[in-house]
Amino acid sequence: MQIAIDGPAGAGKSTIAKKIAAAYNMTYLDTGAMYRCIAHSVLNQIGDHFDNETDIVNIARKTEIRFEGNQVFCNNKEVTSEIRTPLVSRHTSDVARIKAVRDLMVAQQREYAKDHAVVMDGRDIGSVVLPTAELKFFLDADVLERAIRRKKEMDEKGNGKALEEIKNDIESRDANDKNRSEGPLVQVEDAIVIDTTGKSIEEVYQEMKTHIDEARQ
Ligand code: DC
Repeated sequence: MQIAIDGPAGAGKSTIAKKIAAAYNMTYLDTGAMYRCIAHSVLNQIGDHFDNETDIVNIARKTEIRFEGNQVFCNNKEVTSEIRTPLVSRHTSDVARIKAVRDLMVAQQREYAKDHAVVMDGRDIGSVVLPTAELKFFLDADVLERAIRRKKEMDEKGNGKALEEIKNDIESRDANDKNRSEGPLVQVEDAIVIDTTGKSIEEVYQEMKTHIDEARQ
């Protein structure tokens, strides 16, 4: 069984995907973390040169990404929190718009799905990575609520920012993700759309669970 979860930043995709994976004994693949690893590698190796596509693609080819439980390893170095800094977040959309980078990531994601029952979250899972997934969800939420959720997460980690700034960051990332030519964020026709605005994680989970249980019968 393959479950695809797409949607904009802060819609609750990863929290829900982890919950589903645990409940149904499936493997969770955080595809956003893969693009984040590439941006992180670029920053480490050539610095803030996100206009240099040739070097970025070469770095992406040589970057080995591995997941172990909740941890992410990039070239054997544990980078779980380092890939979530505002700097990496901002530059991830610069690498994610490059076709050759996407081709590399998509190939790895499909390979992974070959021998695992997977729950994958991202932007292009239902459209490009797993177009034949049994279940496709599109999670969305009002941008202000998504910004409030992100602020709470950041405050808990001690790197709080003003709400307005977070909201602007989210809006500009959404625009980049929706408007790029390769693997843009799209709501595919066969996706089940869930607006998570004003809903708790448990409520969203229960709604999705109903669909999953139905599909498993
Ligand atoms: O889901 P996230 O916030 O960790 O994603 C980080 C960035 O990577 C975001 O700008 C969108 C991009 N991304 C993508 O282009 N395709 C995916 N399948 C997953 C994430």
